[in-house]
Amino acid sequence: MTKAGDDRPIMDHEYDGIQEYDNPMPRWWILLFIVTIIAAPVYYLAPGDIGAGAKKTEVYDKEMAAFAAAHPNMGGVNVTPEQMAVIVADKAEIEKGKALFATTCISCHRADGGGLIGPNLTDDYWIHGGSPVEIHTTIDQGVLAKGMPNWGKILKPDQINSLTAYVVSLHGTNPANPKAPDGVLAGATPASAAAAAAAAAAAPPATTTKKP
Ligand code: HEC
Repeated sequence: MTKAGDDRPIMDHEYDGIQEYDNPMPRWWILLFIVTIIAAPVYYLAPGDIGAGAKKTEVYDKEMAAFAAAHPNMGGVNVTPEQMAVIVADKAEIEKGKALFATTCISCHRADGGGLIGPNLTDDYWIHGGSPVEIHTTIDQGVLAKGMPNWGKILKPDQINSLTAYVVSLHGTNPANPKAPDGVLAGATPASAAAAAAAAAAAPPATTTKKP
């Protein structure tokens, strides 16, 4: 059935008596389609950081690193070893951490960190790793199943940082009657070995004066 005025060309083929008009997509649609084909490699290769290519993640990482460098005390679980190295070497942080430790942690770890319900925090043995970042993570996330509260929910990020600095400073203070070592010797893994070295270097002489 041909409508009046329907002079569009009919295509050559015919299937079971069915024919079809030659009905191309509108020109604007085809142009748009071609534009998307041209744009696709541009997006893939992302020159000059436009598009969705791999560079986007690099740009993101760079911006995040710049932000982290500008805000060293942000805390949270995403602290870097570099940030923690600065914090654990900061005497003011250690003093703040000491005050917090006295009010929040001594019930389980003892005033000198020798351990009670919680493990000894002064020795070379760690259940959850002895690097500043690992200690930070343990304090922040806690070990709820074992009775260590997740202090990240209770305290502010900079307080977790200060506590980490203080706990690191407790290393090697040899309190009297410490709890027997728990966990593994720091140095068993390369990560904690580097951390132990950093911790030892960061431990200020001030805290070693209270040896028994
Ligand atoms: C209610 C008791 C309790 C309190 C309060 C507590 N802890 Fe703990 N803590 C524990 C226990 C129990 C563990 C051991 C967890 C395990 O066995 O996995 C632990 C483990 C830790 C560890 C990891 C030790 C390791 O060997 O890896 C650190 C670090 C730590 N606590 C720091 C703190 C700090 C800092 C505070 C104060 C903000 C604090 N804890 C308060 C009970 C406590």
